[in-house]
Amino acid sequence: MRRVITYGTFDLLHYGHINLLKRAKAYGDYLIVGLSTDEFNAGKGKKAYFSYDQRKELLESLRYVDLVIPEQTWEQKRNDILLYQVDTFVMGSDWAGKFDDLSDICDVIYLPRTPEISSSKIKNDLEHRN
Ligand code: CTP
Repeated sequence: MRRVITYGTFDLLHYGHINLLKRAKAYGDYLIVGLSTDEFNAGKGKKAYFSYDQRKELLESLRYVDLVIPEQTWEQKRNDILLYQVDTFVMGSDWAGKFDDLSDICDVIYLPRTPEISSSKIKNDLEHRN
């Protein structure tokens, strides 16, 4: 069993997220998503439209996702990887190079983002249309 992990907020679940999760899952058999909690996001000055519980339920309904765990701190990744015996850590290319220090315990892979879609863009577009 090869385990893969990725992290994010996944607010207003969109096709860029699905595409990322699908490609992440293809690296193994079991995909874990570390889902940013509302408190963790507040600390970054971010506020999701959907609550943590709502975002978690959406992710859990996807065929690519096997387990959702809370992301509460920046530092927990190393511990999660060891605890869940993760083989591959995957993030979108917006994080390229940022987590290379984890490569002593697992493979670290950055996948290209899907162009022209993000949660922020959806919010912005809805706000500015008539
Ligand atoms: N992602 C992606 N392609 C996109 C949007 C997101 O591959 N078009 C990936 C990110 O790189 C990340 C994961 O999906 O690995 C979760 O990203 P998240 O930040 O939650 O989504 P965004 O849509 O980028 O949200 P925001 O606009 O708030 O930054």
